[in-house]
Amino acid sequence: MAGEQVYEHNFLWGSKRTGPDLARVGGRYSDDWHRAHLYNPRDVVPESIMPAYPWLFENTLDGDATPAKMRTLRQLGVPYTDEDIANATDDVRGTQEITALVAYLQQLGTVLEGTR
Ligand code: HEM
Repeated sequence: MAGEQVYEHNFLWGSKRTGPDLARVGGRYSDDWHRAHLYNPRDVVPESIMPAYPWLFENTLDGDATPAKMRTLRQLGVPYTDEDIANATDDVRGTQEITALVAYLQQLGTVLEGTR
């Protein structure tokens, strides 16, 4: 449904698709499954052609740019509150990129209730 992409800026729909549609992947697998799959897809899907993203486990967020990104997204219609933005740097600082990406994946398709 169009509304499921309402907070996607820029829209991530593209003309080339190699892997499966992730639009409703939220909740389909455990966090541990996603972490293993992103570290090395072949560990959980032996025939996978998906590239590995091991550096997501090494890189951490400093959060310095997060409030500016959220203000921009708010201008585009994402309903972040002033409090969300004020707390954002402290909320994400030190978080591993893998944790941030898995959190993003786990909310995909969950914005609209009753569609899953
Ligand atoms: C950071 C980038 C990526 C993320 C977060 C990601 C995430 C995922 C997730 C969550 C699945 C499981 C989907 C399901 O079972 O419904 C999946 C499967 C898959 N992805 Fe990716 N993917 C990424 C990049 C890529 C790329 C670049 C390719 C291809 C060049 C690719 C190819 C595939 C394929 C073929 C599958 C099917 C299962 C498997 O082979 O592991 N992915 N991906």
